[in-house]
Amino acid sequence: MSPKVRLFEGFDRALPLMRPRMRRAQRTALAASAMIAALAIVAGSAGPSHPAGFSSTAYAQEPPRQERTTVWDGVFTTEQAKRGSALYGRRCMPCHGPELNGGDNGADDGISLTGGYWATWRGQTVAELFRVVSTKMPRNAPGQLTPQEYADVISFLLEANSYPAGKSELPPDTTRLEQIVFVDKP
Ligand code: HEC
Repeated sequence: MSPKVRLFEGFDRALPLMRPRMRRAQRTALAASAMIAALAIVAGSAGPSHPAGFSSTAYAQEPPRQERTTVWDGVFTTEQAKRGSALYGRRCMPCHGPELNGGDNGADDGISLTGGYWATWRGQTVAELFRVVSTKMPRNAPGQLTPQEYADVISFLLEANSYPAGKSELPPDTTRLEQIVFVDKP
């Protein structure tokens, strides 16, 4: 064999050993530069360095966001809850008790309408509560209150559970109540 061939064969044998090492080195270099680039992007977008004009322009181009009212926004008045309290005393208390924690009325015992009960409404709207109460309650005379009275008694339930009162009354209108969502205390 000539030295030339040996050289060639030697190179040929070395190549598969070299190539992965080279590729690994290239991969490492690539990964490093990609990481630096990613970090630069993250730093750029999260950083407070955007001029104010940039972000406000971006927001102006988005469709207007539908602001959702929650039960923490003051969705009934104190006056309305007071009317609801009187109604509750006459129409609900026999079964749900003076402390709203369930009554002592034999088979018709109402469930507790305090504490953990409200967690079951998380993510739902007051419209749904209105529908349930106005079609099922009082259990012994379902649907017998006026829509206004149902809105009032629901206001009382909200107030008794420490949801805040506000400036306008809870409307007896499911379309509007649809906009008010139960969420955990912010
Ligand atoms: C005759 C007894 C009785 C009376 C009066 C009564 N309830 Fe109830 N209530 C119950 C019982 C029993 C349940 C549990 C079973 C059910 O949901 O039907 C209940 C359940 C409820 C619930 C939970 C419904 C749900 O699905 O989460 C609410 C809210 C409620 N009552 C509100 C009221 C209000 C407001 C009044 C007064 C206008 C009232 N109840 C009057 C017996 C009564």
